[in-house]
Parts: sequence; structure tokens; C-alpha cells
Amino acid sequence: MQEEVKRSLSAETIALLRHPRTHEPLRYEATVTEDDRFREWLVADESAERFPIEDGIPIFVQPDDIVGLNKKYRTFCELSAPLYDFFIRLYSYLWGGSEALWRQEFLRELEINEGDRVLEVSVGTGGNLRFLPETAEYFGLDLTKGMLKQCRRNLRRWQRSATLFNGDAERLPFDDDSFDVVFHVGGINFFNDQEAAIQEMIRVAKPGSKILIVDETDEGISHYEKMPGLGLLVRSERQAAKAPVDLVPSKMLDIYVNTVSNGAFYCLTFRKPRGNTVFSVRRENSVGKNAYTAS
Ligand SMILES: C[S@@+](CC[C@H](N)C(=O)[O-])C[C@H]1O[C@@H](n2cnc3c(N)ncnc32)[C@H](O)[C@@H]1O
Repeated sequence: MQEEVKRSLSAETIALLRHPRTHEPLRYEATVTEDDRFREWLVADESAERFPIEDGIPIFVQPDDIVGLNKKYRTFCELSAPLYDFFIRLYSYLWGGSEALWRQEFLRELEINEGDRVLEVSVGTGGNLRFLPETAEYFGLDLTKGMLKQCRRNLRRWQRSATLFNGDAERLPFDDDSFDVVFHVGGINFFNDQEAAIQEMIRVAKPGSKILIVDETDEGISHYEKMPGLGLLVRSERQAAKAPVDLVPSKMLDIYVNTVSNGAFYCLTFRKPRGNTVFSVRRENSVGKNAYTAS
């Protein structure tokens, strides 16, 4: 018997989506296989590429595309996804606080209004979303499928909703100026290309939006270094643990860095200017880094 045919993405969401490298618009396509299975795709006609939608989640990155540090941390996150929430609660307890308290300390920087479109880059298991107002529309992207699966389970449990995407922060699959709020917590220290990720967050944010980037400080990382297993993973990249403020384009406004959770996390905020500042984007057809110049 044929599976129930239900479109995973709304027309409004599909209109926001773009090929992560060429930025061309994507077309939705559904097919029914010979064994009556319903399959969904996002199709880039110009570059003749198709991105599958698996279990309602568009897949914009394939394992072979992921290299370097991104590959190392994705492998770690795939393995640890089922235990991630437990460890977060445990570490929060060991640091003498609750998860709600330390998350709210940086989340209060966000300016979320009713009906806003909010994007969390590297949403993980969704731990931040439960502390944000229910009156906005949420979108979460992550490199690790296991984290997204756990996120979906959590969202059901918390009776919250968000549209999820499997993709790379360094090449976001969204149109320019799409989101009222863009934020990232807890991954950028170990990205291959922090600058590309910051430029992508700026590109997809609407002019006037405030952008928030949070990750561990050197001091925060030193907590993990004492943990068996985790220590080995983070020690070699420890020099990366500082707010990437030098990578924020000088045209951004109100650039501000402070620390939260007794110095364990840095919290970098800035605002994308309104008006006619143009972020010209070099669009590529072949596999390669997106490149931007603010002009
Ligand atoms: C420490 S978790 C943080 C999750 C969540 N933001 C939170 O606050 O609990 C880091 C997340 O970054 C994701 N990540 C790592 N590299 C990424 C990349 N290049 N693009 C998108 N997500 C990435 C991992 O899969 C993981 O879910």
C-alpha cells in the first residue's frame, strides 16, 4: 500500500532555500518509487543537483564533502548524540548551575519579536530552543544527523516546533536576508573556516538584525580537558577558544564581546547594518568555498 503522501516543507520554507554553493533557488519534487515509497527532493535545475529530504529533514551535505576539523567533530557528535543532553545536564550540575540558567544568560541577548523567523546555526539537540518564546518561527541547521534526530525527539517532548536542516554552517542553504534573528552556540571554535561561517550568518540575516555567537573560552575548554576522552579531543585545538571578533567585518555595528557562566563562555554580538551596504557574494558552480566581499 502506498505511504501517506505528506509534503515535509511548506511553500514559504522552500522559497527561503538555496543551493549551498551556487545559491540558485530550489524546486520541490516528490516521487513514488516502484515499491510505493514516497521520496522528496529539492532540485537545483541549473547545476542539475538534487538534495534529498530524509524523514522531513533536507540533506545539504554529504559525508564526502566534510573534511578536516568539521569531519573530526562531526564524527564525535554522531557518536555522542544520544548522550549529549545527559552530559550537558551533568556538566551544568558540576559547574554549580542549571542548564536553564547558563543558557538564559546568553539567550537574553537575542531580540526575538512575535512572528520572527529565527535561525540557530548548529542547533544540536535543540537545547536553546526550549528557552525561547513560542511565538516565533524556528529553523535549526546542524552538520550531524544524529544531533538533529535527537533534536526532533526533544522538540516533540517539549511540544515545540522547528524546521531542521542537515548542512554546513560555512555554506548555509538559505537566501540572503532571510532571518530576523541568527545565532550560534557551541561549535564555531572548531569549525574549519570560522570566517566563512560568520559571513554566512551575516548574509542570511535581515539588515538590522542582531547576531549572537557563543562558545567556550580557554577557561571553559579547560573544564573539558579534565574529562577522559573529551580531553584528548579538545586539547590539540585549544588555541581556537577565543571570541572570533577579528573575523567580524568592520561594517558591522555594535560589536561587543563579554563572558558569561563565570568566564566559561564568550558571547559575541553585533548588528548587520540597515541601508545600502551590499554584501556581494561570489557564487560558484563547482565545489569550493563561498567567498564574500563587503562593498
Ligand atoms: C556543542 S554542540 C552545541 C549544540 C547546541 N547549539 C547547544 O547549544 O546545545 C555543537 C554542534 O555543532 C555542530 N557542528 C559542528 N560543526 C558544524 C558545522 N561545520 N556546521 C554546522 N554545525 C556544526 C555539531 O554537530 C553539534 O551539534
